[in-house]
This record gives sequence, C-alpha cells and structure tokens, in this order.
Amino acid sequence: MAKAQKSFTCGSCGSVYNRWQGKCEDCGEWNTISEQKAAVSGAPKGLSQKKGSAVSLVSLNEPINEMPRTLSGISELDRALGGGLVPGSAILIGGDPGIGKSTLLLQAMGALALKGEDCVYISGEEATAQIQMRAKRLGLQGAPLKLGCETSLRNILTTLDEGVAPKAVVIDSIQTLFADHVEAAPGTVSQVRVCAHELISFAKRRGTVVFIVGHVTKDGQIAGPRVLEHMVDTVVYFEGDRGHQFRILRAVKNRFGGTDEIGVFEMTGLGLKEVTNPSELFLADHNTREPGTCVFAGVEGSRPVLVEIQALVARSSAANPRRAVVGWDSGRLAMVLAVLDARAGLGLAGCDVYLNVAGGLKISEPAADIAVAAALMSSLSQIALPDETVVFGEISLSGDVRSVSQTDSRLKEAAKLGFTRAIMPMGKKQSQKQIEKQSLSRIGDLVNHFFPDN
Ligand code: TYD
Ligand code: MG
Repeated sequence: MAKAQKSFTCGSCGSVYNRWQGKCEDCGEWNTISEQKAAVSGAPKGLSQKKGSAVSLVSLNEPINEMPRTLSGISELDRALGGGLVPGSAILIGGDPGIGKSTLLLQAMGALALKGEDCVYISGEEATAQIQMRAKRLGLQGAPLKLGCETSLRNILTTLDEGVAPKAVVIDSIQTLFADHVEAAPGTVSQVRVCAHELISFAKRRGTVVFIVGHVTKDGQIAGPRVLEHMVDTVVYFEGDRGHQFRILRAVKNRFGGTDEIGVFEMTGLGLKEVTNPSELFLADHNTREPGTCVFAGVEGSRPVLVEIQALVARSSAANPRRAVVGWDSGRLAMVLAVLDARAGLGLAGCDVYLNVAGGLKISEPAADIAVAAALMSSLSQIALPDETVVFGEISLSGDVRSVSQTDSRLKEAAKLGFTRAIMPMGKKQSQKQIEKQSLSRIGDLVNHFFPDN
C-alpha cells in the first residue's frame, strides 16, 4: 500500500531533507524549509529487474536536424535570446513587479501573431478585459492573438493540446498555476516544479516556444526552486529602474546561444520601444562637461554603451564619512578610493563620496575604474575633463592602468557620437583615427591633469 512519507524541501534551492531544520545546508538560507508530502510505494526496486530499450546513439558529425529560428518581430528580444526563438524551447523570464514583463511578452506575441503565427497568451494574474485594454494601448487590438485566463495546469494543457500546436505560448506567471494532482498551494516549490516540468514537456513534445514568467524574490532571484532555472533552456531577466524609462533584457543562461547579448528597451506611454542606440539614451548632453562628471565608454554584451558617471566629493567631519553608490559596485569604489589615496596621496579618506551612474544603468565592468577615478578627481579639484572626451581602463592595486577588451568598439562608438578624445590605457595600435588618444600607464598620469602642482 502507498505510504505517505514526510519530506522537507528548501524553497530556495530545492534541496530535500528528511527532517525540518531552520537553515538549508546547501544554499545557506534561513526559514525556507517546509514540509512536502510525497507518495512512495514500498522500497525502490533494483533497476536490473526489468530491461529497458536501447537508445540510438549518433556521432557528432552526423547531419543536424536543426529547426529554423523564428524571429519574434522585436529585434531586441531576438538579440537577447541569441538570434530568435528556437522551436520547442522553454524560456523563463524574471523581473521585478511592474517592470514590464507582461507588456514585453504581449508585444512580442502580438507582433508574432500579426506575422501570421499562431500564438496564445495565458494569464493567471489579469482578466481578459485588462489584457485587451493593454493591447489596445499598445496598438495591437487587431492582432489575431488568442487570450486565455486560467490557472489550472490541466485545463491549460488540454487547451494547448487541441488541434495544431501553437507557435508560441506565454504563461504569465508560473507562480499562479496549480496542478490538481499536487497537494500544495499555488506558488509553492512542488507546484512550481510540477507545472514547469509539464509545460517544458509540452514545449518539447509539440515544438512550441513556451515563455514562462517567474516572479522574483526581494533579492532579485526567480522565486521558487532554483531547479527551475536548470529545467528551462533559457533564463532572461528584465531589469531596470522604475524611476527611469529604460529596461534591459539580459540572458543569464542560454542553451541556444551566448549570454553576452542584451536587449535595450524604453518604456513609453505606448508600451516598450526598442532602443537601437543605447548610448543616446544614457547620454543626455555630452558637449560640455561639469566638474565631477565623466563619460565612460563601456561595453554591455557585445555592444558599446557610453554612459555618464557622476561623482560628488565633499570634505566631511564625521568619523565615518559617507559612501553612497548607485549603479556600480561599492567594493570597487572603495578599492579605487584606496588606490587614489595610497598611490596619488589625494586624502579622500576624510571625504563623503557619492557616485552615480546616469540613467539608472548598472555597470559591472572593471573598465569603469579610470572613469570613476577621473570623476572623483574632477569633483575634488573642481576642474572639468576636456570636452568631448571618453574615458575607460582598469586600475590595479599598484596604481598601474591595465588595458581592457574591445578597445576598438569603444572608440568606434565614441567617434560615432561625436567624441574626439579618449583617455585610455596604453596598448596596441588602434584603428580609430578620428579620436585623439591620451594613453595612461599609471594613475599618476591622470592625477597630473587635475592637480598640476602636485
Ligand atoms: P507590466 O508589464 O504589467 O509589468 P510586470 O508584468 O513586469 O509586472 O508593466 C506595468 C508597468 O508598465 C506599469 O507600471 C505601467 C507601465 N506601462 C507603461 O508605462 N506604458 C504602457 O504602455 C504599458 C502597457 C505599461
Ligand atoms: Mg505582469
């Protein structure tokens, strides 16, 4: 007879324990372990008792049965997914509430439907009237897209299995679905896992592209078991600052392409607009520079992006001066400040330092070190950088300036946007002739510009 055995699962990483405990040993999270009921029928039987069927093995150079990718009609989405939608793939899309996940997917499905593809949008969160109103606002009321409001996995799969398989399906969101054979509330680990598994098998079986929207926790991870990320083919995050209008779609896992591409969008009153030249969005006016600002020539994925870095340095009488950073790593700022103190004797230890990356972009490249140092020194000395100048390069703890990758594409983007000078690491010959280069080998070379008497 089937015996119900108790098991306890971590809501964060999906690890299973046979007793409750406060802390998960695998992921270190507290209070994430809860009881799950699993039906186990007797002791597991040995595999050798019954023979399976042999799997046909192929060699690597056999002809590939590759399905062509479908372009969604939103090129920034296709770019982030590695060049279009792969039939039969499952794509998990995460992001903060209200960032625009539903809007993006509705626009993508609308665009595909207008191209004559069969697309279905299932929402467990909004009523059809709400989605219709949004579609009207997005100018998609004429798109032959099929809408459904349902949370029962069984009903959804029955609907999707009827007739010809649709080209693409959106499930908004996985946390609202429930499978009636699992005794747990929607959104719990076991429900999310079972629902995702069924939807992924549907995608593989029928060759449909399945987009799954996943909520994120307060630390920005997709809520539910971490195994969800292992189960799907692609995981993308839709990021951005709600105070700013731009949004970035970033792939963190992709079985069908690289994860270095991003898609950039702008949220407007008429939905998400693609941004083909991100630098123009992040640089409002680059002709004249105020002290404390600096234009960093960065690279996001394979795309160069110019962005303004702003710093404010003010003498402080507090024992622990304030350090506030928006859009960059605070540990990295502490390192740059320490190098400027130790190698250039700037005495920043007694100053409040505020650093901001304009436009709400988050930079993670070490190549921004020199740009940050330049903005800090410019604020401290009240001397502006020369007009039409971009800056990039990495600083080592010894105060040396290290070269960074993709120099050519950074300079090309700067030249395209009318910049004429670049402060950059010494290195190989670059092909950009329109840009006057000022090469740095040590951070001291830059200090002389702001503090000529030192
Ligand atoms: P939504 O797609 O519902 O976010 P999510 O599904 O990620 O929770 O986006 C909702 C936000 O987008 C809402 O705050 C309003 C804004 N928005 C616009 O600014 N313009 C538009 O045309 C639409 C449809 C939404
Ligand atoms: Mg939504």
